[in-house]
Amino acid sequence: MTKKNNLSRRGFLGRIAGIAASVFSFWFIYRFLTPEDSGGDILIQASEADIPEGGAVIFPDKHIALMRMDGALTAMSLVCTHLGCTIALDGDKFACPCHGSIFALDGTVIKGPAERRLDTYRTETKDGLITVFKQVNA
Ligand code: FES
Repeated sequence: MTKKNNLSRRGFLGRIAGIAASVFSFWFIYRFLTPEDSGGDILIQASEADIPEGGAVIFPDKHIALMRMDGALTAMSLVCTHLGCTIALDGDKFACPCHGSIFALDGTVIKGPAERRLDTYRTETKDGLITVFKQVNA
């Protein structure tokens, strides 16, 4: 005597719903245990009070200048958009030592060979703490 493997439509849908509920439960627990801002996409965190108006703080290991101009914070990449050398703050501009590109403090190109402005990163300020994320602003 053979056992007939007969799965009704209702039974099949019930199993699918059970699997979906299990996957959702695992996903929910995973997201609960690993919140979005766990550090994976954070480049820098700094105190808002450490960035002077009209000034900048350089983070050489991250190749980023955190600047405040007219109250607005900007996380400027210090990577030259020509061929990737590290640029340096030179008075009221950024200068690239490799091929001589010069950028204004807002990142726009003053002198090539670089043709594209410097990248800036997404920032968020909360309770006096500035967070710079890996996401480059469009
Ligand atoms: S890498 Fe900066 S000008 Fe060429």
